[in-house]
Amino acid sequence: MPDDVVARQLAYYRARAGEYDATSYGETPRMRDTIAGVVAEMHIDGDVLELAGGTGAWTVEIARVARSVTYVDGAPEMAAIARAKVDDPAVTFEIADLFSYRPSRRFDVVFFAAWMSHVPDSRFDDFWAVVDDCLAPDGRVLFLDESPARAHFEPAPFDTDDGPLATRTLSDGSQHVIVKRFWEPRALEARLAAIGWSATVTPTVHDWYVGEARRASARRIDQPGQG
Ligand SMILES: C[S@@+](CC[C@H](N)C(=O)[O-])C[C@H]1O[C@@H](n2cnc3c(N)ncnc32)[C@H](O)[C@@H]1O
Repeated sequence: MPDDVVARQLAYYRARAGEYDATSYGETPRMRDTIAGVVAEMHIDGDVLELAGGTGAWTVEIARVARSVTYVDGAPEMAAIARAKVDDPAVTFEIADLFSYRPSRRFDVVFFAAWMSHVPDSRFDDFWAVVDDCLAPDGRVLFLDESPARAHFEPAPFDTDDGPLATRTLSDGSQHVIVKRFWEPRALEARLAAIGWSATVTPTVHDWYVGEARRASARRIDQPGQG
Protein backbone atom coordinates (compact mmCIF):
# COMPACT_ATOMS: atom_id res chain seq x y z
CA MET A 1 0.00 0.00 0.00
CA PRO A 2 1.43 3.45 -0.85
CA ASP A 3 2.69 5.63 1.97
CA ASP A 4 -0.06 8.24 1.62
CA VAL A 5 -2.51 9.71 4.07
CA VAL A 6 -4.92 6.79 3.55
CA ALA A 7 -2.27 4.23 4.53
CA ARG A 8 -1.07 6.28 7.49
CA GLN A 9 -4.62 6.83 8.70
CA LEU A 10 -5.34 3.11 8.60
CA ALA A 11 -2.09 2.41 10.46
CA TYR A 12 -3.26 4.87 13.13
CA TYR A 13 -6.59 3.08 13.58
CA ARG A 14 -4.87 -0.30 13.75
CA ALA A 15 -2.67 1.02 16.54
CA ARG A 16 -5.63 2.66 18.28
CA ALA A 17 -8.03 -0.30 18.17
CA GLY A 18 -7.39 -1.45 21.75
CA GLU A 19 -8.11 1.98 23.20
CA TYR A 20 -10.82 3.06 20.73
CA ASP A 21 -13.87 2.30 22.87
CA ALA A 22 -12.40 4.09 25.88
CA THR A 23 -11.57 7.22 23.86
CA SER A 24 -14.48 7.37 21.41
CA TYR A 25 -18.12 6.29 21.71
CA GLY A 26 -17.32 4.10 24.68
CA GLU A 27 -19.38 1.16 25.75
CA THR A 28 -21.73 2.99 28.08
CA PRO A 29 -25.40 1.95 28.23
CA ARG A 30 -26.33 5.56 27.46
CA MET A 31 -24.32 5.61 24.25
CA ARG A 32 -25.70 2.22 23.22
CA ASP A 33 -29.23 3.64 23.67
CA THR A 34 -28.30 6.68 21.58
CA ILE A 35 -26.95 4.52 18.77
CA ALA A 36 -30.02 2.27 18.91
CA GLY A 37 -32.23 5.36 18.67
CA VAL A 38 -30.41 6.71 15.62
CA VAL A 39 -30.53 3.29 13.95
CA ALA A 40 -34.31 3.14 14.59
CA GLU A 41 -34.78 6.58 12.99
CA MET A 42 -32.91 5.42 9.88
CA HIS A 43 -35.40 2.57 9.28
CA ILE A 44 -32.61 0.23 8.26
CA ASP A 45 -33.69 -3.13 6.85
CA GLY A 46 -32.69 -5.75 4.30
CA ASP A 47 -29.09 -6.71 3.62
CA VAL A 48 -26.72 -4.09 4.96
CA LEU A 49 -23.08 -3.39 4.13
CA GLU A 50 -21.35 -1.54 6.94
CA LEU A 51 -18.12 0.17 5.86
CA ALA A 52 -15.46 1.18 8.41
CA GLY A 53 -17.28 -0.83 11.07
CA GLY A 54 -14.57 -0.25 13.70
CA THR A 55 -15.17 -1.86 17.09
CA GLY A 56 -18.76 -2.69 16.18
CA ALA A 57 -20.72 -0.10 18.15
CA TRP A 58 -23.13 0.31 15.22
CA THR A 59 -22.83 -3.27 13.96
CA VAL A 60 -24.47 -4.62 17.13
CA GLU A 61 -27.52 -2.37 16.76
CA ILE A 62 -27.85 -2.72 12.98
CA ALA A 63 -27.77 -6.51 13.36
CA ARG A 64 -30.96 -6.30 15.46
CA VAL A 65 -32.97 -4.78 12.59
CA ALA A 66 -31.30 -5.95 9.37
CA ARG A 67 -31.68 -9.29 7.57
CA SER A 68 -27.91 -9.51 7.33
CA VAL A 69 -24.88 -7.32 7.98
CA THR A 70 -21.60 -7.48 6.09
CA TYR A 71 -18.99 -5.63 8.12
CA VAL A 72 -15.89 -4.28 6.37
CA ASP A 73 -12.90 -2.55 7.94
CA GLY A 74 -9.25 -2.30 6.99
CA ALA A 75 -7.99 -2.98 10.51
CA PRO A 76 -8.00 -6.65 11.64
CA GLU A 77 -7.54 -5.38 15.21
CA MET A 78 -10.82 -3.46 14.98
CA ALA A 79 -12.63 -6.42 13.43
CA ALA A 80 -11.45 -8.74 16.23
CA ILE A 81 -13.03 -6.43 18.83
CA ALA A 82 -16.26 -6.15 16.82
CA ARG A 83 -16.47 -9.93 16.35
CA ALA A 84 -16.28 -10.44 20.11
CA LYS A 85 -19.32 -8.18 20.57
CA VAL A 86 -21.50 -9.61 17.83
CA ASP A 87 -22.82 -13.11 18.32
CA ASP A 88 -25.06 -13.39 15.26
CA PRO A 89 -24.66 -15.75 12.29
CA ALA A 90 -26.26 -13.10 10.06
CA VAL A 91 -23.19 -10.87 10.52
CA THR A 92 -20.09 -11.58 8.46
CA PHE A 93 -16.72 -9.83 8.67
CA GLU A 94 -14.33 -8.78 5.93
CA ILE A 95 -10.98 -7.01 6.11
CA ALA A 96 -10.42 -4.67 3.15
CA ASP A 97 -9.23 -1.25 2.13
CA LEU A 98 -12.30 0.87 1.43
CA PHE A 99 -10.80 2.60 -1.59
CA SER A 100 -10.23 -0.64 -3.48
CA TYR A 101 -13.03 -2.81 -2.03
CA ARG A 102 -14.86 -4.94 -4.56
CA PRO A 103 -18.10 -6.42 -3.24
CA SER A 104 -19.25 -9.90 -4.22
CA ARG A 105 -22.89 -8.72 -4.29
CA ARG A 106 -25.04 -5.59 -3.97
CA PHE A 107 -26.75 -4.39 -0.80
CA ASP A 108 -30.06 -2.72 0.12
CA VAL A 109 -28.25 -0.33 2.46
CA VAL A 110 -24.65 0.83 2.59
CA PHE A 111 -23.94 2.36 6.00
CA PHE A 112 -20.95 4.10 7.53
CA ALA A 113 -20.49 6.02 10.79
CA ALA A 114 -17.63 8.37 11.63
CA TRP A 115 -16.00 7.74 8.28
CA MET A 116 -17.04 10.59 5.95
CA SER A 117 -14.84 13.01 7.92
CA HIS A 118 -11.76 10.86 7.21
CA VAL A 119 -12.17 10.50 3.44
CA PRO A 120 -9.46 12.63 1.79
CA ASP A 121 -10.81 15.20 -0.66
CA SER A 122 -8.52 13.71 -3.31
CA ARG A 123 -10.19 10.27 -2.82
CA PHE A 124 -13.81 11.44 -2.37
CA ASP A 125 -14.96 10.40 -5.85
CA ASP A 126 -13.06 7.07 -5.63
CA PHE A 127 -14.77 6.22 -2.35
CA TRP A 128 -18.24 7.01 -3.68
CA ALA A 129 -17.51 4.93 -6.79
CA VAL A 130 -16.92 1.98 -4.45
CA VAL A 131 -20.22 2.77 -2.70
CA ASP A 132 -21.92 2.82 -6.10
CA ASP A 133 -20.50 -0.65 -6.86
CA CYS A 134 -21.89 -1.96 -3.58
CA LEU A 135 -25.43 -0.57 -3.76
CA ALA A 136 -28.52 -2.34 -5.15
CA PRO A 137 -30.43 -0.48 -7.89
CA ASP A 138 -32.93 1.04 -5.43
CA GLY A 139 -30.58 1.01 -2.47
CA ARG A 140 -29.93 3.70 0.11
CA VAL A 141 -26.65 4.98 1.50
CA LEU A 142 -26.91 6.00 5.16
CA PHE A 143 -24.11 7.77 6.95
CA LEU A 144 -23.42 9.68 10.10
CA ASP A 145 -20.59 11.87 11.30
CA GLU A 146 -19.69 14.96 13.29
CA SER A 147 -21.05 18.32 12.14
CA PRO A 148 -19.09 21.61 12.19
CA ALA A 149 -20.60 22.34 15.63
CA ARG A 150 -18.08 19.81 16.97
CA ALA A 151 -15.07 21.23 15.13
CA HIS A 152 -13.77 22.96 18.27
CA PHE A 153 -13.09 19.51 19.78
CA GLU A 154 -10.44 18.85 17.16
CA PRO A 155 -8.66 21.66 15.35
CA ALA A 156 -7.50 20.50 11.92
CA PRO A 157 -5.24 23.36 10.97
CA PHE A 158 -3.33 21.91 8.02
CA ASP A 159 -5.34 22.39 4.83
CA THR A 160 -4.05 20.21 2.01
CA ASP A 161 -5.25 18.60 -1.24
CA ASP A 162 -6.42 15.72 0.96
CA GLY A 163 -8.47 18.08 3.14
CA PRO A 164 -7.87 19.40 6.66
CA LEU A 165 -5.32 17.34 8.60
CA ALA A 166 -5.32 16.88 12.37
CA THR A 167 -2.75 15.30 14.69
CA ARG A 168 -3.78 12.66 17.21
CA THR A 169 -1.78 11.18 20.07
CA LEU A 170 -2.17 7.62 21.37
CA SER A 171 -1.60 6.49 24.95
CA ASP A 172 1.96 5.40 24.10
CA GLY A 173 2.75 8.99 23.08
CA SER A 174 2.92 8.24 19.34
CA GLN A 175 1.54 10.96 17.06
CA HIS A 176 -0.51 10.33 13.93
CA VAL A 177 -1.83 12.54 11.15
CA ILE A 178 -5.40 12.00 9.96
CA VAL A 179 -7.89 13.72 7.67
CA LYS A 180 -10.68 15.40 9.63
CA ARG A 181 -13.31 17.32 7.69
CA PHE A 182 -16.38 18.46 9.62
CA TRP A 183 -18.71 18.58 6.63
CA GLU A 184 -21.27 21.35 6.57
CA PRO A 185 -24.53 19.56 5.56
CA ARG A 186 -25.39 21.76 2.55
CA ALA A 187 -21.81 21.56 1.26
CA LEU A 188 -21.84 17.77 1.52
CA GLU A 189 -25.18 17.57 -0.31
CA ALA A 190 -23.77 19.76 -3.09
CA ARG A 191 -20.53 17.78 -3.32
CA LEU A 192 -22.52 14.55 -3.67
CA ALA A 193 -24.91 16.09 -6.21
CA ALA A 194 -21.89 16.94 -8.37
CA ILE A 195 -21.08 13.23 -8.72
CA GLY A 196 -24.63 11.97 -9.27
CA TRP A 197 -26.06 11.41 -5.79
CA SER A 198 -29.25 12.88 -4.37
CA ALA A 199 -28.51 13.34 -0.68
CA THR A 200 -30.25 14.82 2.32
CA VAL A 201 -27.99 15.64 5.26
CA THR A 202 -29.69 16.66 8.51
CA PRO A 203 -28.57 17.35 12.09
CA THR A 204 -29.16 14.75 14.78
CA VAL A 205 -28.14 14.12 18.41
CA HIS A 206 -24.69 15.09 19.77
CA ASP A 207 -24.14 17.57 16.93
CA TRP A 208 -23.79 14.69 14.52
CA TYR A 209 -25.38 14.74 11.08
CA VAL A 210 -27.22 11.90 9.37
CA GLY A 211 -27.12 11.59 5.59
CA GLU A 212 -29.26 9.57 3.24
CA ALA A 213 -28.19 9.32 -0.40
CA ARG A 214 -29.61 7.60 -3.46
CA ARG A 215 -28.45 7.62 -7.06
CA ALA A 216 -29.86 10.78 -8.59
CA SER A 217 -31.04 9.03 -11.75
CA ALA A 218 -31.61 5.44 -12.76
CA ARG A 219 -28.40 4.02 -14.18
CA ARG A 220 -27.86 0.62 -15.68
CA ILE A 221 -26.58 -1.56 -12.88
CA ASP A 222 -24.75 -4.73 -13.86
CA GLN A 223 -25.47 -7.42 -11.31
CA PRO A 224 -22.44 -9.57 -10.43
CA GLY A 225 -22.52 -12.80 -12.42
CA GLN A 226 -24.66 -11.46 -15.25
CA GLY A 227 -23.32 -10.87 -18.74
C1 LIG B 1 -13.42 6.70 13.21
S1 LIG B 1 -13.38 4.96 13.05
C2 LIG B 1 -15.13 4.62 12.92
C3 LIG B 1 -15.48 3.24 13.40
C4 LIG B 1 -16.97 2.98 13.60
N1 LIG B 1 -17.71 3.16 12.35
C5 LIG B 1 -17.52 3.89 14.66
O1 LIG B 1 -18.37 4.72 14.36
O2 LIG B 1 -17.12 3.74 15.82
C6 LIG B 1 -12.79 4.75 11.40
C7 LIG B 1 -12.62 3.29 10.99
O3 LIG B 1 -12.18 3.27 9.63
C8 LIG B 1 -11.22 2.24 9.49
N2 LIG B 1 -10.37 2.60 8.35
C9 LIG B 1 -9.52 3.65 8.25
N3 LIG B 1 -8.95 3.69 7.03
C10 LIG B 1 -9.46 2.64 6.34
C11 LIG B 1 -9.28 2.14 5.03
N4 LIG B 1 -8.46 2.75 4.14
N5 LIG B 1 -9.95 1.04 4.65
C12 LIG B 1 -10.78 0.40 5.52
N6 LIG B 1 -11.03 0.84 6.78
C13 LIG B 1 -10.37 1.94 7.19
C14 LIG B 1 -10.49 2.21 10.79
O4 LIG B 1 -9.85 0.97 11.00
C15 LIG B 1 -11.61 2.51 11.78
O5 LIG B 1 -12.18 1.32 12.26
